[in-house]
Amino acid sequence: MSRSLALGVIIAGGLLSAQDGSSLYDRTCASCHNGGNDRAPSRDALRSMSADRVLAAMETGPMISMAVRLTTADRRAIAEFVSGKPIGQPLVTTPPPQAVCPARASSPFALDGMTWTGWGGNTSNTRFQDTAGIASDQVSRLKVKWAFAFPGDIQAYSQPTIAGGRVFVGSPGGKVYSLDAKTGCVHWFFDAEAGVRSAVTLARVGTGNVAFFGDAKANVYGVDAATGKQLWKTKADSFPVAGITGSPVFYNGRIYIGIRSGEEASGADPQYECCRFRGSVVALDAANGKQIWKTYLVDEPKRTTKNKAGAQLWAPSGVAVWSTPAIDARRNALYVTTGNNYTDPTTRLSDAFLAMDLNTGKILWSRQMTPRDAYTSACRLPDKTNCAESNGPDFDFGSSPILVALPNGRRALVAGQKSGVVYAVDPDNQGELLWQTRVGKGGTAGGVQWGSAADQNNVYVAVSDVGRIMLTYTSATDADPKQGGGMFALRLDNGQRVWYTAPEPCGNRPRCSPAQSAAVTAIPGVAFSGSVDGHLRAYSAADGKVVWDFDTAQNYPTVNGVPGHGGSLDGPGPAIGGGMLFVNSGYPTAGGMSGNVLLAFSVDGK
Ligand code: HEC
Repeated sequence: MSRSLALGVIIAGGLLSAQDGSSLYDRTCASCHNGGNDRAPSRDALRSMSADRVLAAMETGPMISMAVRLTTADRRAIAEFVSGKPIGQPLVTTPPPQAVCPARASSPFALDGMTWTGWGGNTSNTRFQDTAGIASDQVSRLKVKWAFAFPGDIQAYSQPTIAGGRVFVGSPGGKVYSLDAKTGCVHWFFDAEAGVRSAVTLARVGTGNVAFFGDAKANVYGVDAATGKQLWKTKADSFPVAGITGSPVFYNGRIYIGIRSGEEASGADPQYECCRFRGSVVALDAANGKQIWKTYLVDEPKRTTKNKAGAQLWAPSGVAVWSTPAIDARRNALYVTTGNNYTDPTTRLSDAFLAMDLNTGKILWSRQMTPRDAYTSACRLPDKTNCAESNGPDFDFGSSPILVALPNGRRALVAGQKSGVVYAVDPDNQGELLWQTRVGKGGTAGGVQWGSAADQNNVYVAVSDVGRIMLTYTSATDADPKQGGGMFALRLDNGQRVWYTAPEPCGNRPRCSPAQSAAVTAIPGVAFSGSVDGHLRAYSAADGKVVWDFDTAQNYPTVNGVPGHGGSLDGPGPAIGGGMLFVNSGYPTAGGMSGNVLLAFSVDGK
């Protein structure tokens, strides 16, 4: 108490010493940001942020619950220490005039040219683009046509959407852009309340075209796709650290979206009353954002015991939805994959495939793949006070379910799990298991992390299995350059391996991991997989041979004039359409490299 007071006085006198920020950081932040938490950006990445952005993360962003017990002065001291910059120099993120499209280029926006929308590219989540405008034998000639940098951001994590000659993309700073697909000039930008990680989904609603997306504070937006004007905004969950990572799906006038939370990280604090978040799926009216139904995936949490630090514990909790639903028109059903519980006792709908009725949200069936999986960040940290007795293994689903028709006339729902196992279940028989194939060892960052792509015959699965190594003389960890990665093609009808391609070795780039955690995207004859090592690689669908390899971890001149550099590829995969491939580069979590660019590729860069 007296220490914080003294610090406050020093700050008021303008004599802030870096020492205080440093020791505060060591005590309250380092456990995760020096490598203890797979999803936390690295220390280096924090250093490249502005002090104002770090402060905002603690005061209005994802780090609120890590910093609630600090004073304002403490938070400022940490922000200045971590970034190495003074507070009060917020970056201007409004696109400069030269980045804005000339008036004549702003022809009316038409949805007909829609080539890739939302997470899966379609409502079945196949991530397969059969009208790419890039032939398989042209893939080796893909070159960067333009790059766009997200100002002030250290990562680029929203999958692009392509339609009507434009590309739509969100960013961690909360700006959503509509850019010209050919030139990268800005048609419009929109300021969401928090980071936008979901892909933008486009649909015609009434007489207009609407862009839908969700933000890190669980707001869902409908904005005019032509102008960026907000039509509606709905808070889809009121829990303090609830947010949206998955993407909205549009079907028959409605938007369907899953809700996740940051409470798994809040639980690291022994004083935190762990845990009360309830994962859910929400259906909204696409015309006005009004909620039609919301189905919670755990019951209302009740008090259980107290933890060692005397804090009240609650259960059931968790079962976040990180994935994007798939739509089954034939059965009038929606499918999602779910996350783990946070506390004991655990429940039945965690780490599962679920089917829900599209009209009512009623759960039709569920198929749990890993029972008794309660996990919070505390399970990975020295202070395990808020780690449940079941202690993980944190094998939730990050991958969205893919609905496919099998060559034998039957259908399957396919998804890889963080356990390292790919499953196919039967949507026409209560989720009965059709096959399972192990592709990786599994772990808190996958196994299979963000998902796969499927064509008519195969599912293309990238393996994460990111590794960590302890750094000498510190408590920090770094990515293990010798662990993780690899790419499989499995037959959709029986899960048998068609081919396997081993990961490329890392070389001597610092903070390199060969892990392939990002979602896979496929076109006829080729599957694309991004790696934490920064490379985007194209694999021949026939034999797994690498036919193209581009290292995105470079500096780029950008069309908006903001310094741009690439880093790790993780989270979403490329979006492909209209003869172009768009991919975001920069992902300083899971041991990866920061970066802030959207890269646009075309054949010969034309
Ligand atoms: C329990 C683990 C944990 C602790 C402790 C923690 N963080 Fe984080 N931090 C995370 C995770 C996980 C993320 C990624 C969150 C996301 O992307 O939603 C993150 C993200 C961030 C970001 C990036 C936000 C952005 O705008 O992209 C900043 C800045 C940050 N943390 C600062 C801090 C500071 C400062 C502290 C100490 C007061 C701290 N963190 C304590 C886990 C932690």
